[in-house]
Amino acid sequence: MREPSVTPSAATGRAVRFESFGGPEALTIREVPVPQVGPGQIRVRVTAAGLNPMDWFMTSDAETAARFGLSLPCGFGTDFAGVVDQVGDGVCEFAVGDRVFGGVLSRAVADHVVVDEAGSIAVGGEARRTPDGVDDRTAATLAIAGRTAAAALAVVDAGPGDTVLIGGAGGGVGVFAVQLARLAGARVIGTGSATSADALRALGAEPVAYGEGLRDRVRALAPAGVSAAMDLHGTDTAAVARELGVLDERITTIAARIDGITPANGADAPQRALEDIAGLVAAGRLRVPIAAHFPVEQIRAAVELQAGRHVHGKVVIDL
Ligand SMILES: NC(=O)c1ccc[n+]([C@@H]2O[C@H](COP(=O)([O-])OP(=O)(O)OC[C@H]3O[C@@H](n4cnc5c(N)ncnc54)[C@H](OP(=O)(O)O)[C@@H]3O)[C@@H](O)[C@H]2O)c1
Repeated sequence: MREPSVTPSAATGRAVRFESFGGPEALTIREVPVPQVGPGQIRVRVTAAGLNPMDWFMTSDAETAARFGLSLPCGFGTDFAGVVDQVGDGVCEFAVGDRVFGGVLSRAVADHVVVDEAGSIAVGGEARRTPDGVDDRTAATLAIAGRTAAAALAVVDAGPGDTVLIGGAGGGVGVFAVQLARLAGARVIGTGSATSADALRALGAEPVAYGEGLRDRVRALAPAGVSAAMDLHGTDTAAVARELGVLDERITTIAARIDGITPANGADAPQRALEDIAGLVAAGRLRVPIAAHFPVEQIRAAVELQAGRHVHGKVVIDL
């Protein structure tokens, strides 16, 4: 697949765009006017943008895009990190030169993004200061996956004495979920393929292969039982958790709905989850494995890798 390319100038910047719905082949890089801030907004010179499966789910077809309020032509990507380079009237929290990270729905993979000082990912975009000790590639992975993992942990309320089964534990959300559950004092059993086992152990999880026979493998690892479960891939882990006697209120899903089980959504994460996670990274207590990083010119290859659904950690675009 040929990658798109464009040369930026001073008054314009590169932005990855969708001009038709589809897979990675529908992505193009356009040179667009550098956006200008309005009151209460900041502009960020983006240096890194983390990818999430939702980025390409949202732009795969018109119906899904419409559910997120998106239409063509459309930007791409949600997580970003960079440096503030313009500040609007009335902004108090940020100044030019501040390092920031955050999220802005489907326009993060661009040289510049304008976000609200007090917005949210879905409405106006949002930013937080990047703590010292957190590099931009890492900061660009935190907003969606970190918050979603924190939300899942809050639903199942895992802590000391718990054994938590996490399905899809080596993926973008899983790497946060495993470590947050461990930091909360829980034992973690994480599902993955054989290729994930070492990465899962390094995060503090006991690996177990997903697929046929999962229930018996988990039972062998935890004869005293499992007390909570987060299914970060689909419904298989949640179903096995039920078979193992985990109460419905201590099971959550993030990628599917199951009657009787409370789904976790990043938007419902505890209020300061993002700041707390960034602080843990800065303190060296939580690390984000970057599975791969690509220059923006290779956006299609990056999305193709992510869409394969066997990434261990996060995929990041450099700008
Ligand atoms: N509700 C929300 O707020 C929210 C937020 C973020 C994400 N999500 C959704 O949650 C899901 C996970 O997101 P993510 O960023 O973690 O995705 P991801 O990074 O693409 O997940 C990749 C991981 O999935 C694992 N995997 C593949 N097949 C599996 C299977 N059959 N059973 C268990 N694990 C399997 C892979 O393990 P191996 O490589 O070992 O096969 C890999 O480590 C996506 O569907 C995403 O859209 C929801």
